[in-house]
This record gives sequence, structure tokens and C-alpha cells, in this order.
Amino acid sequence: MWPFSAKPAPPLIRRLSSDHAPACAKLHAGAFHRGWSASEIANLAADSTVLAHVALDSAGREVLGFSMARHAASEAEILTIVIDAARRKAGLGAALLDAQLKALQDLGVVEVFLEVAADNPAALALYARYGFEKVGERKAYYARPDGPPSSALILRRAQLVS
Ligand SMILES: CC(C)(COP(=O)(O)OP(=O)(O)OC[C@H]1O[C@@H](n2cnc3c(N)ncnc32)[C@H](O)[C@@H]1OP(=O)(O)O)[C@@H](O)C(=O)NCCC(=O)NCCS
Repeated sequence: MWPFSAKPAPPLIRRLSSDHAPACAKLHAGAFHRGWSASEIANLAADSTVLAHVALDSAGREVLGFSMARHAASEAEILTIVIDAARRKAGLGAALLDAQLKALQDLGVVEVFLEVAADNPAALALYARYGFEKVGERKAYYARPDGPPSSALILRRAQLVS
């Protein structure tokens, strides 16, 4: 059966460094209307209030996704999470979010907030799995070129509640 039955090696979750920034910028631009440049990403990663992780292939070479959160005292906000479009639905987003939430908890964070478009089922499913709940809504917040604007939902997770 080998090699056809071999499971792919698991991805590596590591801290994001400036070396990863160009690949992260490419992923971000592919996922969002207003992408972040490599220098914006490198600057954020160097900010002591920002926690940033990448998902790498098992060889540690290819950037498959990244996530960033800003923390202040006992609160944090997930700024972004992106997985390469060809690698989605394989558990990478969950692995990254898990790493971020654990690292935030180690920093003493007890509440995590984020903003997500109401028409983003993938992100909503990911956040629901980690216990995020809606605490607010900005109606018609995100313009959509081919339809009505989407609301922005504000979600919150209490770290110690599973
Ligand atoms: C949101 C995103 C990060 C999820 O990453 P991913 O690696 O595909 O997520 P996972 O494979 O870890 O899946 C996590 C959960 O979401 C669910 N999910 C993933 N994609 C989904 C989809 N398109 N529709 C419905 N559910 C979906 C999975 O089934 C899984 O749920 P489960 O644990 O109950 O089985 C990814 O879709 C992405 O990069 N999207 C573009 C950027 C984006 O929208 N970021 C969020 C901004 S707020």
C-alpha cells in the first residue's frame, strides 16, 4: 500500500517571523479585499502587543496560513486568520486558532474578541467550534460588489469557558 496509504505529515505551528511576511501577505491579499503588505505584517509581528503564528508544511518551508491577535491586559482581539485557499477544510485554521488561544491564555488573557462578516460561513464555523458567541452586530458593514452589504458580527470568547 505504501506510499498511497501514508497520512500526510501534520503541519507545524510556529511563531511568525519577518521571513514569513511576504508569503503571509500573498495569502492575505488572496483572501481579503484590502490585503496587508509584507511590511505591514512584519511590523505587526514585531509589535510586542501582537501574537502571530504561522502554519508551515511539515518540512517547515511553505507558509500554509497565519493568524494574528493583539492583546492588552486581560483582553485580546483576533486581527486576522487566513489559510491558503487550496489547504482549507483540513484542520489548519483550527490548529492555528488553538495555538493562538493557548498562547493568549498563557499571557493572562481571559476574554478574546473578533469581528467577522455574517456571510462568512467558514469563519463562523471555526469560531463556533472554539466557543465564540455573538455579542454585537454592525449592520450593513461590509460592502459586497455583487449583493447587499453584509453585517459585521462581534464575537467574544471567555478563555476559561470551553
Ligand atoms: C476561515 C478559515 C481560516 C478556516 O480555515 P480552515 O483551515 O478551512 O478551517 P478548519 O479546516 O480548521 O475547519 C474548522 C471548522 O470550520 C468548518 N468549516 C471550514 N470551512 C467551512 C466552510 N466553507 N463551510 C462550513 N464550515 C466550514 C470545519 O468543518 C470545521 O468545523 P468542525 O470542527 O465542526 O468540523 C479559512 O476558510 C480562510 O482562510 N478563509 C478566508 C479568510 C477568512 O475569511 N478569515 C476569517 C476572517 S474573520
